[in-house]
Amino acid sequence: MSLKEKINPAKLPEHIAIIMDGNGRWAKQQGEERIFGHENGVKSVRDTVEAAAEIGVKYLTLYAFSTENWNRPQEEVIALMQLLVHTINAETATLNKNSIRLQAIGDLKSLPSDCYNELQEAIENTKHNSRMTLVLALSYSSRWEIINAVKEIAKKVEEKTLSASEINEDTIAKHLCTANIPDPELMIRTSGEHRISNFLLWQLAYSELYFTDKLWPDFRKEDLYEAILDYQNRERRFGKTSEQLV
Ligand code: FPP
Repeated sequence: MSLKEKINPAKLPEHIAIIMDGNGRWAKQQGEERIFGHENGVKSVRDTVEAAAEIGVKYLTLYAFSTENWNRPQEEVIALMQLLVHTINAETATLNKNSIRLQAIGDLKSLPSDCYNELQEAIENTKHNSRMTLVLALSYSSRWEIINAVKEIAKKVEEKTLSASEINEDTIAKHLCTANIPDPELMIRTSGEHRISNFLLWQLAYSELYFTDKLWPDFRKEDLYEAILDYQNRERRFGKTSEQLV
């Protein structure tokens, strides 16, 4: 029985989020520049998106560029932005062919204009697709997102369109970039790092975390299947006891 066949379709995570890490180390291992790792990371993106859509995952969020990544050497930032523009442009037809809708979260206005425009165009061109939603986290950080949400909520309280006593979990969730996206049940991070790194801090509250030593450019469909099988073998208790779940 293949790994894919072992997956229980009835217990599939609806939303998987991934921190794609290790591109730089992968490139170094090959004696190449860091951007070579990012370029090869695109193959893993393609493989993962295809695998997730094939098995029936509804949302896949990829951490492609963090707010902190702007502090990388200028040449790497420029090369990464160019790679994003090129990849989004080259892959839109495939997204449409597979009925995958593209969305993005983050401070998108801070992206270079060509990147921003390409992204908006792809989002517009794929907006009617319904098989899976691919969410790119770009210029994203969770603390930035939470600060924005708090500011918006505070403004509503100031304007008296919302009363402070009404604020609950739902109010916060609705003011995050992920307002219309369910929380991920599974978060995967590659490259052996065991951190969340300012990614979906609110949304990952009850997520199962899966860490693999594989560097992102080596991540393939089988690795996604393995992560899902690991997830399916866990007991999700949400604070209850095992007995209560039966
Ligand atoms: C982390 O590896 C990876 C990134 C910051 C960028 C990820 C981008 C891609 C895979 C390319 C395009 C993506 C899409 C969605 C079109 P790292 O550079 O931090 O690696 P290191 O920790 O080994 O240095």
